[in-house]
Amino acid sequence: MFAGTPPMGFNTWNTFGGDISAKLLCETADAMVEKGYKDAGYEYVVLDDGWMLPQRGADGRLVPNPEKFPDGMKAVADYIHSKGLKFGIYSCAGVRTCMGLPSSFGHEFEDARTFAEWGVDFLKYDFCNFPETADCKQAYHTMSMALKASGRRILFSACQWGKYEPWNWMRSIGVHMYRSTYDIIDTYQSFKGIAESQVPNLQTNAPGCFNDMDMLIVGMYGNGNVGDAENKLSDEEYRTHFALWCYFGTPLMIGGDVRKMDGFAKDLLLNKDLIAIDQDEECRDPYLVGNAGGNRPVFIRHMADGSFVIGMFNFRDYRSGTLFIFNDAGLPTSSGYGLDITDIFTGEHIGVKQDYFMPSLEPHTCKLYRATLAPYPAK
Ligand code: GLA
Repeated sequence: MFAGTPPMGFNTWNTFGGDISAKLLCETADAMVEKGYKDAGYEYVVLDDGWMLPQRGADGRLVPNPEKFPDGMKAVADYIHSKGLKFGIYSCAGVRTCMGLPSSFGHEFEDARTFAEWGVDFLKYDFCNFPETADCKQAYHTMSMALKASGRRILFSACQWGKYEPWNWMRSIGVHMYRSTYDIIDTYQSFKGIAESQVPNLQTNAPGCFNDMDMLIVGMYGNGNVGDAENKLSDEEYRTHFALWCYFGTPLMIGGDVRKMDGFAKDLLLNKDLIAIDQDEECRDPYLVGNAGGNRPVFIRHMADGSFVIGMFNFRDYRSGTLFIFNDAGLPTSSGYGLDITDIFTGEHIGVKQDYFMPSLEPHTCKLYRATLAPYPAK
């Protein structure tokens, strides 16, 4: 199946903005193979805004900027494919991209054909400079059809920032992932706000179409296009961000520089346990089971193998207990069952708990626990 689980890859925007080139993409593809990202499941190398010349060519087609892409786009696609990876490109539903470059309004079918000829596997389709009198849903439906008619299987990544409740209609018009919020920046408040805003909108995640909470900021440490040097994130905060994205089953598009990231950030992005949660084949959304006093939500997520993942997040600025009463997950004391709990990050086996579980979490951190049903008292 196409996009049977949340798509994974890399996108140029968060770190590089318009400072992109064939060289950058090819080096990124190399790094994705050499540093283990490909083996971990990251598959798409996506070029964001800034790749085209300011005017279409005489034949009406989009033209890659020859200074940035001297051998054209097909050569880039061929290189990325030779590494066993897939190539993504960017256009926009409006008359110009967000950087003011030509885009696909009224050119959907010819642009889709061009992308197919170049060997594109993924289209991110933005929403800047969209005519007031035009209809958003219609524009995305048209590009969806144009991609279907292009002769190549191209993953459709819609990006209209969560306007007009896309969770209600993007799946039915053939989109594979849709941005549900405005742009992420490299701060704690940004990723926290995005995640909190999407808790009510995750239930339509299912094989074939996913709620995209925007590219990852892991490992940016205040640098790059959406970096914020004044509000640098700590490693622990990056861990909370990545855990949220995986736990919520959103696409995982790396926004940091994979050529340079090492140490904590790289290990986090390659964390097999977290990726396995994101990629769970049943794609169920987490179910909110507690938020006592606010700002410390607790969820349970049913997994394909019959186990559960408990997610506990302390969004407070001070150490707090996060309370999970099992009855809120359908497990009253009278059931005779408790939960056998293991900490996913440390591997520590906590043991069988009954009635409730209330670990204490440092500020801005999270805990994920794997749990299975266990008769109580444990034998
Ligand atoms: C919008 C999108 C971003 C990025 C930029 C490019 O802001 O939401 O993800 O694609 O445009 O200009």
